[in-house]
Amino acid sequence: EEKKREQWGSRMGLILAVAGNAIGLGNFLRFPVQAASNGGGAFMIPYFIFFLLVGIPLMWMEWGIGRYGGKFGHGSSPGMFDVLWNNKISKYFGALGLFVSTVIMIYYTYIESWTLGYSFLSIAKSYFGLQNFDMMKSFLYSYQGRETSQFFDGYITAYIFFLITFILNFWVLYKGISKGIEKLAKIAMPLLFLFAIIIAIRVITLGTPDPTHPENSIANGFGFIWNPDFSKLDDPKVWLAAAGQIFFTLSLGMGTIHAYASYLKPKDDIALSGLATASTNEFAEVILGGSIAIPLSVAFFGIATTTAMAKGGSFDLGFASMPLVFEKIPFGEFFGFLWFLLLFFAGITSSVAMGQQVMAFLEDEFGFSRKKSTIVFGSFVFLSIHFVIFFLKYGYLDEMDYWAGTFGLVVFALIESIIFMWIFGAEKAWDEINSGAEIKIPRIFFYIMKYITPTLLLIVMVWWLINDAIPILLLKNIPESNIPYVIAARVFMVGMLGLLFYLIHKSWKRKESRV
Ligand code: PHE
Ligand code: NA
Repeated sequence: EEKKREQWGSRMGLILAVAGNAIGLGNFLRFPVQAASNGGGAFMIPYFIFFLLVGIPLMWMEWGIGRYGGKFGHGSSPGMFDVLWNNKISKYFGALGLFVSTVIMIYYTYIESWTLGYSFLSIAKSYFGLQNFDMMKSFLYSYQGRETSQFFDGYITAYIFFLITFILNFWVLYKGISKGIEKLAKIAMPLLFLFAIIIAIRVITLGTPDPTHPENSIANGFGFIWNPDFSKLDDPKVWLAAAGQIFFTLSLGMGTIHAYASYLKPKDDIALSGLATASTNEFAEVILGGSIAIPLSVAFFGIATTTAMAKGGSFDLGFASMPLVFEKIPFGEFFGFLWFLLLFFAGITSSVAMGQQVMAFLEDEFGFSRKKSTIVFGSFVFLSIHFVIFFLKYGYLDEMDYWAGTFGLVVFALIESIIFMWIFGAEKAWDEINSGAEIKIPRIFFYIMKYITPTLLLIVMVWWLINDAIPILLLKNIPESNIPYVIAARVFMVGMLGLLFYLIHKSWKRKESRV
């Protein structure tokens, strides 16, 4: 017999959970780096254009697809596509949603575990006394086990924090929607905002930390991100970086929003909730995420060094430059602790979202219990993360991040917008989104969703295909020594996609034979 689908406990809990899904490391680590390295204030112009024309519309579509799929008992994209498009092949497109969120979960959980580790290392003052950026970086590399040095004994510290992080994630998933994910969000999200506000206030009141370098000030730090450099606006790279940030930060194009929305009641509002969660993410990103790492770094190290740090990647800014600042300010160990714990809360409320879709797939399509899903999926993720841990310095993580976290999202978003707006039908989709709505979505969004969003997605996808995906696929610019590991990452991903096709095939066979 059918068991009853889980549901969210309260409206507030749902909003916090979806905000938790969206607000992640992307807001506090990825956004500042993207903004700083793509023209500062000029970046914000394409960023907001994509937010309006792609972010918001896709957010509504994904809530709509998810709530609709949930009515038929589906919490993952294969089942959702199957009910939207009555065709034998439609469910196989849904494999991409499971693929993207699982791959991201595999590396994201590991990065998340560094944040937990670093919150302890901050309060323990372990990195205090390291004099410069290179030493801080060496500390990070040693933590990650990439470098042997005096700081850490191999992988052991990182591994312990990874185990704790992993167990917490799967514990929450095991507890389920209202008792696990919702409860976590109700604790973690208010704390995250509180910590972010405390740190942002500390940042703003720092002024000019070194009077002999008056140009290195918090004010100039804000200026650095916010003064538009319009000369960059005709560079397509800036537009694509903005698009990529919008997808990643709003958790679009991977099925995690759908999974959460599938636990709504059929008449629950999605118009206002979707808008509220998207706006909350933007507040956390632009206001809070934009007020911490970059202004601090400029105030202490100047614009040139900060640019160099930002170009070195998201990890340098968060894990090397921020610790350098913390050791310089009063009660720095305490602010460091808050900063990394904030990142951990942001991370874990996102990684459980990636996992939930797969849990739903196993429960809904195979009839697994939550316990069985936790064990099966947990074992798979656990084993897979080991490659990320041990192959970190050979570009294994970056390869996964590119195909799933950058390219895959757009492909999935394009597919879902075509299935929902064109195959299921724009009028039906519009009615679905507006049913139970507590606000009236302006009709112009009907046309945006039908024509503009898919067109922009297609343009972004084709541009990336030609300029990045194909060169990367052909191993251009990949150091010789990394090639075996990059190929290993690809074999893993292709194998996983094959496994997903097989599982989808099998579960539908199983259901057909029961009828
Ligand atoms: N949106 C999250 C962030 O900003 C990342 C994320 C990706 C969350 C995929 C869920 C699914 O960090
Ligand atoms: Na985000």
